[in-house]
Amino acid sequence: MSREPYLGSHLDTTPPKYSGPLYPLDKSAFRKSIPVLAARVPASQTSLILRSEVTRKYLIGLPKVRPVVSDPSAPDGDKLVLLGVSNQDDLSPESMKLIESKSNGFANYNLVLDYDYWTASELLQAILPEKLREGAPVGFAATGHIAHVNLNDEYLPYKKTIGQLFLDKNKTIKTVVNKLDSIDTQFRFFQMEVIAGEPDFIVEHHESDCRFTFDFSRVYWNSRLHTEHDRIVQSVHPGEVLADVFAGVGPFAIPAAKKGCAVMANDLNPASYTYLCQNIKDNEVFDEVRAFCEDGQAFIRNVFRRVYDTPFPPYTGPKLSKTALRKLQKQATRDKSSNKTSSSEEISPSRRKIDHFVMNLPDTAILFLDAFRGVLANKALQEIYSTMPIIHCHCFTRELESEKAEADIRQRIEEKLGAPLQDDTEYRKVRSVAPGKEMYCISFRLPSEVACAAEA
Ligand SMILES: C[S@@+](CC[C@H](N)C(=O)[O-])C[C@H]1O[C@@H](n2cnc3c(N)ncnc32)[C@H](O)[C@@H]1O
Repeated sequence: MSREPYLGSHLDTTPPKYSGPLYPLDKSAFRKSIPVLAARVPASQTSLILRSEVTRKYLIGLPKVRPVVSDPSAPDGDKLVLLGVSNQDDLSPESMKLIESKSNGFANYNLVLDYDYWTASELLQAILPEKLREGAPVGFAATGHIAHVNLNDEYLPYKKTIGQLFLDKNKTIKTVVNKLDSIDTQFRFFQMEVIAGEPDFIVEHHESDCRFTFDFSRVYWNSRLHTEHDRIVQSVHPGEVLADVFAGVGPFAIPAAKKGCAVMANDLNPASYTYLCQNIKDNEVFDEVRAFCEDGQAFIRNVFRRVYDTPFPPYTGPKLSKTALRKLQKQATRDKSSNKTSSSEEISPSRRKIDHFVMNLPDTAILFLDAFRGVLANKALQEIYSTMPIIHCHCFTRELESEKAEADIRQRIEEKLGAPLQDDTEYRKVRSVAPGKEMYCISFRLPSEVACAAEA
């Protein structure tokens, strides 16, 4: 993060140019002494100088630097109020007058700034050769304790330096990784190399009030999708049933379950499945989420029947505290012995019908849509689907104009489904993933002629 320049300051507070070893850095080489002017002020008077309109703008005003310090040559005497100038000529006549009336004169003070003072980005500017300063990495994306960067080739000779800077300057970061260009083609996680810190890839990350644990080097996770996770979770209602075909470690499934949805969550990556199960446990949604580890096509084909044959229990309202739950259980036992039906059963039947599908595998999700052909061929299943599920399908497009992007996506989906989409289909741009490549989410109702088709 670069810091705003100190407006009005005549002081050069940039770090000194660095020519020491690139790794480990010689931190002592960043020590810099800046002579500043200070007013000697009795402790009881310092607030007058600090607050006055006239003098305020001449205070040192540097982040992390206290404007009032003890005089090193007389620790028990007057305080030194540090000014952002090196000599008296830089002060306005009014400020000079006020300072003179409240102080016992001026002093020279050596302000020492060092490695701890500057941001990672400021230090990097002092380390890099001039031609690399513009465009230098200024930050990173954080997932749990891992900072990840994506360094261009020209910065690779500095990767360990960059790693050390990010590690030193961010207390919550324990590992810095550089994402390599290769992505696992099937399971979408990045290959990465550790450039600083411990090679520990098991992260605990918090999103939407849920705790996610996973091995960042073996599963897909993208914190930039937080808003999209939230948006989909907000669009489903408590009590509904959601099927997440490419669930990863659960960023849609777990918050939706906490909201009161029942979820069938699937991922083919065995590592994702393992952490999905752990996250279900850690977030205490084991009654609400059922996890599977199968290919998306097979999952889509099986999931209608599974929910039908083993329905989720009726929705009984928001998750209850343990005490409220105990009360309800006691009541249920009493009702059972007196042959009364519980109020929840009266108002809400078991859930055997899926309301939503989420398909976040943007590279190829559309190719899985033909798996919906004939999923409701069975008459008993058809009967409970008076309304068809809504499919939220993520995809990429190379079309940048929204109309052309929608036409491109629509054409590919209709071709795969073998049926037209309805007019209420919603097209939403999620984000630009690369120059000339957009990610979209298309929400459409599964056409009944596809679901009920005789052939599978
Ligand atoms: C882009 S990630 C999305 C994960 C999660 N929904 C999220 O938003 O973070 C796609 C997921 O699909 C899984 N996947 C890839 N191919 C699959 C397949 N044929 N069947 C099921 N899951 C698959 C990957 O392992 C990965 O976790």
